[in-house]
Amino acid sequence: MRLADIHCHILPYVDDGAEHMEEMEELLASAVEQGIEIICATPHLRHGMFESSDEEIIRQYRRACAYIQEKDIPIGLFLSREYFCDDTFLERLRKNQLIPMGSGNTILAEFSSRYSDTTIENYLKKILDAGLTPLIAHVERYGCLDEKRIESFIRLGAMVQINAGSVLGREGHRQKKLCWELLRYELVHAVASDAHDPQYRPNELGLCANKIGHKLGQACVKKVLWDGPVKILSLDKGE
Ligand SMILES: [Fe+2]
Repeated sequence: MRLADIHCHILPYVDDGAEHMEEMEELLASAVEQGIEIICATPHLRHGMFESSDEEIIRQYRRACAYIQEKDIPIGLFLSREYFCDDTFLERLRKNQLIPMGSGNTILAEFSSRYSDTTIENYLKKILDAGLTPLIAHVERYGCLDEKRIESFIRLGAMVQINAGSVLGREGHRQKKLCWELLRYELVHAVASDAHDPQYRPNELGLCANKIGHKLGQACVKKVLWDGPVKILSLDKGE
């Protein structure tokens, strides 16, 4: 079972993810144990809250790559960001200052839990109009969205990511139920860990893959934990 994790906060010093190199090293070790072969690091970018510059995250990314190479860790590491959708984001979008995931044109978009479904839709349309594909981060979190509304966003051209923790029930019954419905109706493009640290928000992708395999079969696991993520990163399948 090959796994790719395209939403996680593994880079140290840049957001509320890994606090230091040791935590990053632990998260990497845990990923290897679970069979994760590809990771896309997605440090937050949110005005007034998480404002590390692209230069800084690139610096930390290169450091992480050097560590992976030095220790011969069997993980391919990529870099993007988790973009909180607000006016600052729109300015970056206009100026073409976003870092897409892998070699593709997808960006991970996060929304306020206070936004309405119409506000979310408007942001998605703006991202699509700019020639990028929005991957909705942890879609299950937004109380205003149900399965039908999520399906309508996919028809628009958006993609959908859900968190492993939500699938496992860590975020309550509503989110868990919605995740399983979305998985059953094939409305999920990627399941990711959204891991922040080894202790409180760990990487549970392996456990999640086992649960999905048990309930929905290995073909579903392959689709949402390997094929989908690899396609989003625009990598060759063999990589
Ligand atoms: Fe995240």
